[in-house]
Amino acid sequence: MSEPRFRVAIVGAGPSGLFAAQHLTATGEVAVDIYDRLPTPYGLLRYGVAPDHTSIKSVANALARVFDSGMVRFLGLVHFGRDITRDELLSAYDAVIYAVGANEDMHMGIPGEGAVGSGSAREFVAWYSGHPDASPQSLAGVRGAATIGVGNVAVDVARILLKEPLALDETDMPEDVLAELWRGNVSDVWVVGRRGPQHASFTTTELRELCTLPEVQVVIDPAVLEGIDESTLDRRTRGNLAVLRDAARREVPDPRARLHFAFWRRPVGILGDPVTGLVIERTALDGDGRLVGTGDTEQIDVQLVLRAIGYRAVRLPGIPFDERHGVIPSAAGRVVDGDRPCPREYVVGWIKRGPIGVIGTNKSDARETVEALLSDLAAHGPLPERGDALQLMAARGFWPSTFSDWERIDAAEANRGASHGRQRMKLEAWHELLDLVQRERPGGPIPWG
Ligand SMILES: Cc1cc2nc3c(=O)[nH]c(=O)nc-3n(C[C@H](O)[C@H](O)[C@H](O)COP(=O)(O)OP(=O)(O)OC[C@H]3O[C@@H](n4cnc5c(N)ncnc54)[C@H](O)[C@@H]3O)c2cc1C
Ligand SMILES: NC(=O)c1ccc[n+]([C@@H]2O[C@H](COP(=O)([O-])OP(=O)(O)OC[C@H]3O[C@@H](n4cnc5c(N)ncnc54)[C@H](OP(=O)(O)O)[C@@H]3O)[C@@H](O)[C@H]2O)c1
Repeated sequence: MSEPRFRVAIVGAGPSGLFAAQHLTATGEVAVDIYDRLPTPYGLLRYGVAPDHTSIKSVANALARVFDSGMVRFLGLVHFGRDITRDELLSAYDAVIYAVGANEDMHMGIPGEGAVGSGSAREFVAWYSGHPDASPQSLAGVRGAATIGVGNVAVDVARILLKEPLALDETDMPEDVLAELWRGNVSDVWVVGRRGPQHASFTTTELRELCTLPEVQVVIDPAVLEGIDESTLDRRTRGNLAVLRDAARREVPDPRARLHFAFWRRPVGILGDPVTGLVIERTALDGDGRLVGTGDTEQIDVQLVLRAIGYRAVRLPGIPFDERHGVIPSAAGRVVDGDRPCPREYVVGWIKRGPIGVIGTNKSDARETVEALLSDLAAHGPLPERGDALQLMAARGFWPSTFSDWERIDAAEANRGASHGRQRMKLEAWHELLDLVQRERPGGPIPWG
């Protein structure tokens, strides 16, 4: 293979970074290094997409093909901002694409939010997905749980809590997660939406799956489904309303658990520490269409409150950041700092658009960015002189993990799964992952933790 004309670094090996790599390598002129702070690629596809949604998980197989091109290297265990800086990447590559996603939580700002038993769906998802940074979650004593927010993350979390644990046995969840879900005794889950069902961001397939879980009775006040002018609503929202109406009518004999939808309710306080209840206030739209509390409150009997009110991105060291929207500011994928362009820097995915959109959304998004990048490269040509980022790290005694290391992790997970009659079981501890990363590197030992 001839020496590629350009070298591009992508920071983040989630769907958006991998789609960007696909678009770049399709030109045959660009070699790509994809950095990630984890030794595993795929971002939220591995650590967010629900373990029982196996068909979407298989998108990883398609994305993995980019590593077969011979033009793309995976450089894991490199935390941008700590192990390598903006200036170092800009000196070693013709262009840099930030694809780090959104890895933090939004907060509700209500009393009791810091209590034991109150947390974020993000932390809960990270736990059941076997993310090495996740804290163990306990369902001991939890009979009732509330998820705040009416998006697809709330649906995922409610489904995992309500699903018959036997049905999760076939997933790749780590063993101790399954054991905790088995031990759990959650009989009631509330999904709390501060506006009406016509405003919820669920997608219909996901909502239907939740509302048709075997032996689960759906409880919903029929009044919230009445008087909605559907003529102006999109197909998804009309579909959601139909699913909710069906569910409201369906009587489940001798239910194992109940799923309560509490629309037009907002959380105003979490009781107890550990949590013993959640206070929700009835809401309405005022004359100007603004959401207001009515002062009418009720208490629900929950021991776990998970806010599923959106993920939040954090500022990367040295990179412009729009705090209000939680994104790296950009124009057609080119990073900007106010009115000032930041040459050779680009952005894709959730860190570009905010924490919204399914995996496929990142493909067209990455295409827009890569088109801008390629046209800039065509206009300016390659850097006259490029440094070598690997040498730079190696000089500090630091060597990234590789795609072969990931393949060893992948194989170990498949083996562990096979020994339990499952397709895969995730390794969730840092030491388990790092044990499979080859330590003998030309540049010295790899970092631990
Ligand atoms: C709980 C949940 C479930 C979802 N389920 C689905 C689903 O079923 N179907 C669907 O289509 N979409 C789903 N989505 C949406 C989908 O996951 C996102 O659209 C997609 O993952 C966004 O891709 P991204 O590359 O921008 O970010 P991410 O997937 O978050 O990838 C970012 C990558 O950057 C790395 N990184 C972060 N910071 C650094 C740093 N400083 N240095 C180096 N690396 C760094 C991370 O380790 C990660 O690998 C789900 C989202 C969530 C939150
Ligand atoms: N299976 C799948 O395809 C799947 C699964 C999971 C996630 N995803 C995707 O990932 C993206 C993120 O999903 P998400 O569920 O995190 O986000 P989301 O769809 O934006 O939903 C967030 C929810 O939180 C509510 N909310 C925000 N702030 C709140 C507050 N302070 N108090 C109460 N409620 C509040 C929002 O209500 P308002 O509308 O009133 O602001 C909204 O209902 C979405 O694009 C989603 O489709 C897809």
